[in-house]
Amino acid sequence: MNQQVRSQPIPFIDIVAQRQRLGRSIDEAVSRVLAHCQFINGPEVTTLEAALAKFSGARHVIACASGTDALLMVLMAKQLGPGDAVLCPSFTFCATGEAVALTGATPVFVDVDEATFNMDAASLERGIATAKRLGLKPRAVIPVDLFGQSADHDAVGAIAAAEGLFVLDDAAQGFGASYKGRRLGTFGLATATSFFPAKPLGCFGDGGAIFTDDDELAERLRSIRVHGQGSDKYDNVRLGLTARLDTMQAAILIEKLGIFEDEIAARNEVAERYARGLGNVVTVPRLAEGCTSVWAQYTIRLPKGANRDGFAAALKAQGIPSAIYYPKSMHQQTAYRYFPVADGGLPVSERLSGDVISLPMHAYLDEPTQARIIAAVRGAISA
Ligand SMILES: Cc1ncc(COP(=O)(O)O)c(C=O)c1O
Repeated sequence: MNQQVRSQPIPFIDIVAQRQRLGRSIDEAVSRVLAHCQFINGPEVTTLEAALAKFSGARHVIACASGTDALLMVLMAKQLGPGDAVLCPSFTFCATGEAVALTGATPVFVDVDEATFNMDAASLERGIATAKRLGLKPRAVIPVDLFGQSADHDAVGAIAAAEGLFVLDDAAQGFGASYKGRRLGTFGLATATSFFPAKPLGCFGDGGAIFTDDDELAERLRSIRVHGQGSDKYDNVRLGLTARLDTMQAAILIEKLGIFEDEIAARNEVAERYARGLGNVVTVPRLAEGCTSVWAQYTIRLPKGANRDGFAAALKAQGIPSAIYYPKSMHQQTAYRYFPVADGGLPVSERLSGDVISLPMHAYLDEPTQARIIAAVRGAISA
């Protein structure tokens, strides 16, 4: 291998390889939309919703404009507002807590499990007690299927049921994964996902979807998606949003959904190769019993005392990108630091924010390229 080949940059997520694989089918899908010109609520939106319902097992799928809107719409439909508390993990992308705060309700941040990075049941219980102590009314819990791995839905569901809370699953990163043999999309009252391009199932812009078995909620969500429209188009019966998924994005997603199962399998092979190659030098992610992952991210933890910036720089020098998800947990961020955290604090979230780093991960990462990444990681650690 000459020096030039060795240092050729590797993409963090290879959207181009997928685009090449899908080739003309995407061009043709877009051309069909350009021909019929129904850019809003075109037939592809209904087709996609039906395909996603079949894929997930959910009775209703409501496509929408983003994962953030998907979360917000459910909270709006359930009329969350000031005085209400929603329990969410702090170690997550900001949209999880942001959607709560946008309704006027209070996000109460809870800790995550050290091995899976997902919501910790004991901290959830403490967070509910904290909310009550502060005079808030706990209404909902939002587990996140972080980095692609399903959360512990039995544990979260049992606590939520005992406390009378509804569960909104944030599967923005985990859609396609399963829990105890059941695909995400059917846990709790509703599930939200994102089709942001970098997600395991992504479109070519912004997009999202909500999954639910609840008929009444589905109807309300369809109304909220279009300004709170009632049966008379000009009599809006509630507050809503402009939160539709573009027909063009739906057409693209239909094509991508066709290869999604195959891509999930490929992502799992990549994850296994990383675990074999790196398991004895860094902490590699672990799947909990009954959980699968779509590996939205492959996130390792560096050994105690390792210099993360130096490690990232060493990889970068060899053309290998990395990313830190998340250098600050939500409760450590400027906009969110005044919201409550579960009694006892969130030490795991804070530790993870200090030592995680994510490596390139996508369905088209071939073995030789991955071997280069593994060798570089091993080299950077031993240095
Ligand atoms: C956990 C989580 N929730 C919500 C979202 C929001 O999705 P979107 O970017 O489509 O609004 C994301 C997106 O990154 C996410 O990772």
